[in-house]
Amino acid sequence: MTEYVDYFNQAKAAQEQTRLVLQSQMLDKSLGSMLAVLPEKEQERIRDIVDIGCGPGTTLIGEAIAHPEKRFTGIDREESMITYALARMHASDLHNIQFLTGDLRQAWPFVDASFDMIFGRLIFGFIHKSHYTTFLQEAYRVLRPGGYLLWWETDFHLYTNSQALAKLYALGKLAFFRRGVGLSVDCLNISSSLVRWYKQIGFHDVKWQIKTVDCSAGTQFREQFYQDQYHFFSMFKDYCKEQKVINDAPHPDYEVTQEEYDSLVEKLESEMLSNDHVAFFNFIVTYGRKPEKGV
Ligand SMILES: C[S@@+](CC[C@H](N)C(=O)[O-])C[C@H]1O[C@@H](n2cnc3c(N)ncnc32)[C@H](O)[C@@H]1O
Repeated sequence: MTEYVDYFNQAKAAQEQTRLVLQSQMLDKSLGSMLAVLPEKEQERIRDIVDIGCGPGTTLIGEAIAHPEKRFTGIDREESMITYALARMHASDLHNIQFLTGDLRQAWPFVDASFDMIFGRLIFGFIHKSHYTTFLQEAYRVLRPGGYLLWWETDFHLYTNSQALAKLYALGKLAFFRRGVGLSVDCLNISSSLVRWYKQIGFHDVKWQIKTVDCSAGTQFREQFYQDQYHFFSMFKDYCKEQKVINDAPHPDYEVTQEEYDSLVEKLESEMLSNDHVAFFNFIVTYGRKPEKGV
């Protein structure tokens, strides 16, 4: 039976929106255009694109400006994200893009074969491990034959020499694991599972690559990444409490008290903004194609 989970920052939507604007600017620059991963001829053929869990719409608006000949749709459960995206859309006087609210844990509000391309980035947070098959089937259904699903995800894994950041990632992983978020047995091993699942659903031409965003000292992303992580872990505290990763009698190896958690978050500034901080943020960039004579 499919279980549904709430996104980890659902209750703090306004704060989360600000963080996502910052984060998507960084990711758009470092990971590049969603279309660019496809072969050139395919890029031209694509007309209708949907961004699932589009957040404040920053990424999609950039694509709509760059590709006036294509039509874009953004969908997100959070109304405040969509309100923000619509305001940005109007300010840019764009007519090839629309935004709507919708919960992608339910049947998607699109008829069969609506899109040539589906793009999803960093969406694991609202997908329970029992929900992946239904989710991918919905993606398959709303794609036209020959259409592409592009899913760019993180295993919530970071290479860093900041002890505080490394510990917070370990706590975060445990919180997600306890909530059942992620799709493989050890829960947050999305990168090794996505490709197999694409194939099981019926996608062809499945491709993947790992992209690394260097957010270390001396890089253009260092400050943005610090802000992103500081705000993420400040908001993430409640989720850790719900999953008892923060509790009054923590296991010394993998849980913490609230005071210990707060102290880790406070240490981020000095550690992440130090001159020798190293941080590599890893993504798996995948796509799969619905066959022309799709089933
Ligand atoms: C980590 S953010 C990623 C945003 C965007 N894809 C990006 O990469 O910048 C996840 C997004 O999923 C949205 N979301 C959470 N639960 C959702 C649901 N059930 N259906 C649709 N969107 C959801 C959140 O509001 C948030 O905007």
